[in-house]
Amino acid sequence: MASTQPPKALPTPLLTGRDFLGSLDLDRAEFLALMATARAMKAGEFRGQKPLAGQTLALIFEKPSLRTRTTFDVAMYQLGGHAITLNGAEIGLGERERVSDVARNLERWVDGIMARVFLQTTLHTLAQHAAVPVINGLSDTLHPVQLLADYQTISESFGQTEGLRVTYLGDGNNMANSHIQMAVLSGVDLTICTPLGYEPNGRVLMEAAQAGAQVRLSSDVAEAVRGAQVLYTDVWFSMGQEGEPERKRLAFSGFCVTPELLEQLDAGGIFLHCLPAHYGEEVVPEATDHPRSRVFDQAENRLHAQKALLYHLMAGQRVRW
Ligand code: CP
Ligand code: NVA
Repeated sequence: MASTQPPKALPTPLLTGRDFLGSLDLDRAEFLALMATARAMKAGEFRGQKPLAGQTLALIFEKPSLRTRTTFDVAMYQLGGHAITLNGAEIGLGERERVSDVARNLERWVDGIMARVFLQTTLHTLAQHAAVPVINGLSDTLHPVQLLADYQTISESFGQTEGLRVTYLGDGNNMANSHIQMAVLSGVDLTICTPLGYEPNGRVLMEAAQAGAQVRLSSDVAEAVRGAQVLYTDVWFSMGQEGEPERKRLAFSGFCVTPELLEQLDAGGIFLHCLPAHYGEEVVPEATDHPRSRVFDQAENRLHAQKALLYHLMAGQRVRW
């Protein structure tokens, strides 16, 4: 709902010129400040202001997208800037030319780079060779911008995140890894429930545990879901990782989110999914349409959370034209 109050002054940008390749590029205070900006942006408190006027963000996609593509483009427009989309196949990252050369070209023209890539190392190479902020728009390892929207949505339901019981059910993939990193910042009590053999990245787990995250691994669906405040799932077959489908389907039977499973949550419990959904695999349509589902609020919050992120990373940069 848009505010009827006069627009407020934007906060001081906190992260000018920095990269966002994973949640742990933020500390807890920065995460909370970013969430506050996202809430205010959603409430229309800064409406009409164009803090990124004159700035351009390049959007690179090695994989398909609906939400990431649309929300970054709309976010730049609403902040007064501009976005251009570059198809990965067309620019041939690391094939037509070196990733480092792509970075060294783009930094001469644009003020930020958002990239959806296969390898997390591609993002690190872009960041190393481009002086402008680089944002991870999903890699095989992490999807940190999704988690900003997810935690904005969780905060809308519960007011805060500290101590909430969050259960991620499904593949130990980029979303599972991202939840583990985010547990460091959010202070939730996180259970990652996967079939045996599909656990998340061991290094991500170890680093998050060392940073103080409360994370428990499980393969018992009923026990992991019972009494949780947030249930989260994601596809069994991530983009570019569709190998051995029959073996995987067998391992994941029992890992489908249904209305019956949602009834096992805490009384105020909510259901989240980053989307797209593969109906009949990790979720049924009756679960995304269920009163406990917040999946479309979550999708909306991609816009607000990323506007906050872009504002804090890019506002305060020198406008070059
Ligand atoms: N959740 C998400 O990142 O959606 P897209 O793949 O459509 O961008
Ligand atoms: N794990 C999924 C997330 C999609 C937003 C994938 O990588 O395809």
